[in-house]
Amino acid sequence: MELNRRNFLRTAPALAGGAVSAACGSSTANSSPAGWDEVRSEFGVSDEVVDFTAMLIASHPRPVREAIERHRRALDENPAVYLESELNRQEERVLEAAAQYLGARADDIALTDSTTMGLGLVYQGFHLQPEQEFLVSEHNYYSTRESIRLAAARSGASVRTFSLYSDIANVTAGELVDNVVSAVRPATRVIALTWVHSSTGLKLPVERIAEALSEVNRRRDESDRALLCVDGVHGFGVEDVETANLGCDFFVAGCHKWLFGPRGTGIIWGSRRGWGAVSPVIPTFRDNAVRRAWIRGEDPDGETNGARMSPGGFKPYEHQWALAEAFEFHQNIGKSRIAARTHELSRQTKEGLAAMPHVTLYTPMPDELSAGIVCFDVNGKSQREVVASLRKKQIIATATPYQPSYARLTPSIRNSPEEIETALREIRALG
Ligand SMILES: Cc1ncc(COP(=O)(O)O)c(C=O)c1O
Repeated sequence: MELNRRNFLRTAPALAGGAVSAACGSSTANSSPAGWDEVRSEFGVSDEVVDFTAMLIASHPRPVREAIERHRRALDENPAVYLESELNRQEERVLEAAAQYLGARADDIALTDSTTMGLGLVYQGFHLQPEQEFLVSEHNYYSTRESIRLAAARSGASVRTFSLYSDIANVTAGELVDNVVSAVRPATRVIALTWVHSSTGLKLPVERIAEALSEVNRRRDESDRALLCVDGVHGFGVEDVETANLGCDFFVAGCHKWLFGPRGTGIIWGSRRGWGAVSPVIPTFRDNAVRRAWIRGEDPDGETNGARMSPGGFKPYEHQWALAEAFEFHQNIGKSRIAARTHELSRQTKEGLAAMPHVTLYTPMPDELSAGIVCFDVNGKSQREVVASLRKKQIIATATPYQPSYARLTPSIRNSPEEIETALREIRALG
């Protein structure tokens, strides 16, 4: 089956505000939740539980659920014909909505299945020489560390780990910026950081880091620049920023956490410079030039971009296409309202925990250095015991998968100040 795709989006600028609903032509155009109770009612999360796991895996809000169901039914009824008739249109809707949300060109966005897949594709895609290095912070999640370990093993490049701060209790943005810049050496080609750490909730000042790195890079040849790659998943769907303006070369995120997109969706955004430094790892189905070259028995020419970095193969299209509704859901509520609400709930959680003598809070208090993840422990109890005690009361927290491991609450727009109070009351009772 030839899956044609028009290319007009490849150079189209991001849509002007408000245009997404019209462009999507979806059934969600009139679903703009006005208040937070209304937002909460869009989710199917059980009323029996107080759920603080938005950072793990999404519960789909109604517009996403309905879009998935619509596509699933049509694909089940007549798979090939529905795919042929919808593929181009739906993929364009998703890319338009993503471009609008990221403040980016659709051409610079790859569609993936998860943060982990995006990180693997980016780090495997670099062409590092044995004398070059990956510079990684010791606070990255497994997905970054393992992607880089595998990429370095193939290329022969080395991996150097550095520390971002000496004491989380006193960390400052200035210290974080200085520590990144001073860790860079002439051999550093790729710098791998995580925007919001799932180990502590610390948020890095990525824009300031990128700005400082651009100074370092001014003295380097183009092919030798240190490129900044960010696992952005725990700021994506939380912070009110335009991803493309953060200043990094690659921004990788899953869409199935804070964005509440379909499970099994993610994006890679790359700068022009970033795309110029990588090659695709998995064959794309999104670029007809590559397929035409294959038919002719030739190698394709042209540059790497978001389409070429999108791993091909047939997809669970009902999920990938419903990503447009997830972006639309966020835009309808408003990025700035979502950021303000998440920070408000997270501040309430942090202040409540910090006031308990038997609790140690690890997440920095300032908004500048935190987002929606709040990590803590309780004197004399393991994080597992804390999580188990809360679950007995139907409060769903998680334990961080790191060493040391902490208990973690991750308030999101699905939660209310009353739910935070409920969790705080139970944690207070553990003292
Ligand atoms: C920082 C970070 N990156 C990536 C992941 C994995 O994300 P995904 O499921 O989208 O691969 C996690 C945890 O789920 C994480 O905490």
